[in-house]
Amino acid sequence: MTDMKTEVDRRKTFAIISHPDAGKTTLTEKMLLLGGAIRTAGSVKAKKSAKFATSDWMELEKQRGISVTSSVMQFEYQGYKINILDTPGHQDFSEDTYRTLMAVDSVVMILDVAKGVEEQTKKLFKVCRDRGIPIFTFINKMDRFGKEPFELFEEIEEVLGIESTPINYPIGMGPTFTGVYDRFEKQIEYYDNGEKVGTQAIEDYDELQEHLEKVTDQETIDQLMEDLMLVDEAGNEFDYEAVENGKQTPVFFGSAVSSFGVPTFLEHFLEMAPLPSTRESTKGTVKPTDEEFSGFVFKIQANMDPAHRDRIAFLRICSGKYEKGMTTWLDRTGKQMKLALPQQFFADSRENVEEAYAGDIIGLYDPGVYQIGDTVCGSKNIFSFGDLPQFPPEHFAKVRPKNAMKHKQYIKGIQQIAQEGAIQVYRTPHMEETILGAVGQLQFDVFIYRMKAEYGVDLVMDTLSYQIARWIAEGDVPEKLRRTSTNMMVYDYVDRPVMLFKNDFNLEYFQNQNEDIVLSERPPRTE
Ligand code: G4P
Repeated sequence: MTDMKTEVDRRKTFAIISHPDAGKTTLTEKMLLLGGAIRTAGSVKAKKSAKFATSDWMELEKQRGISVTSSVMQFEYQGYKINILDTPGHQDFSEDTYRTLMAVDSVVMILDVAKGVEEQTKKLFKVCRDRGIPIFTFINKMDRFGKEPFELFEEIEEVLGIESTPINYPIGMGPTFTGVYDRFEKQIEYYDNGEKVGTQAIEDYDELQEHLEKVTDQETIDQLMEDLMLVDEAGNEFDYEAVENGKQTPVFFGSAVSSFGVPTFLEHFLEMAPLPSTRESTKGTVKPTDEEFSGFVFKIQANMDPAHRDRIAFLRICSGKYEKGMTTWLDRTGKQMKLALPQQFFADSRENVEEAYAGDIIGLYDPGVYQIGDTVCGSKNIFSFGDLPQFPPEHFAKVRPKNAMKHKQYIKGIQQIAQEGAIQVYRTPHMEETILGAVGQLQFDVFIYRMKAEYGVDLVMDTLSYQIARWIAEGDVPEKLRRTSTNMMVYDYVDRPVMLFKNDFNLEYFQNQNEDIVLSERPPRTE
């Protein structure tokens, strides 16, 4: 029998966050290559392109140069079982991305050495910091000219408000990039012509200088020595507890495109990154090694494979062991459920899961029973991990099918896409119009595109001037206030009443006039 602790102790589950173009795809690919999960460089990109051919809606990603979906990949490296959760880089997909961050134990933040901390990184970073998720920084594209390391440390500290501590330090940059000095291992890793050309262990800084004199110019060496002294004297010392609490980020330098610095990064990261964490629940703290199986649904995605028209609910396992054919209970409904053929995701395939442990992500075939935030329990003693954060929509639009004959397909598409949670779908009380709500405008484009590509329905869309949605948690809205010039009452996809307002002033006015009505930013959970 496998020891549960041994299995949990070798799991590392993390997400990579970055601004588009910083090198997320490239770094992911190099890690997968190291783990033997793919054989040739370019596979992830090639896979992306192959997907465009089969899954048409992803064509939109290509057109826009963005990554729309988050995916999950598992691979092994040096005895570790690694789960990487990809996060879409574009700000308009923030809701899905934010939820993905709830399912990881740490985060790798990639910065482009020339650009430093960019807009999108800031937003994602904030979510990590609020949750205290440990963050590891990989500064990429050292083969190009960019900002000085100290400038980047300052930026991380000032803009993101977190201490940084360099684990390795670059020797030169751009045309003079000679490699990195690993402060932990006390060794130089040489870079030449896009490759790692060897390592050299050193005793002290004198020896470091001697070795570098053979391969680089004096100016680069002087700068490095000055910087290293400064880091040693005035820099932050590596503090595991601070890293674990998300207060300090270990920083690594490299060049993902040539794989330079990637193995070292991965090895240090795997050693330093936290194991699957404990989680709070309605029955108290749940430990990853607890016997009883549990997990929560953080993402639902329809039509992952257009050939099968399936919908997958992604479950993060928090405790216990998943075994084939096991029976579980859903917290929201109390119903008993057999997990039908859960799947795990690899770089280029998905396979049925035989067993899985805390930290793993499994994909559950979803005939429409799961909602985001559901807890799946391994016994009748049902408990709940609580709601995942919701990010209220700020853009609204009215849609209908261009061709009324397509009504059936239209309804099906809307229902399925709504359950994924990336877009909110509402209906008006009498006229049965469909109103969409989204965190970002771009989600409307994705919706239109997918309705056409996956359900064959052309849509007509009119944007509406509402900006705020509030669920009616308590109280009844009088008939005459349900549709005025400044607000409108609609129902969400499980028929919970929602009030849309044009602006904060309208919302406040309504609230003052109707003190017995309780409005909520988040939907109340339903049976
Ligand atoms: P993303 O997923 O974060 O959006 O970034 P991605 O990995 O797609 O990388 C964006 C671009 O940056 C790619 O170039 C990639 O080759 C390049 N890149 C990644 N790492 C490095 C690096 O270490 N050094 C340099 N110089 N470039 C790097 P592209 O021209 O957009 O695509 P491609 O045709 O080269 O693949």
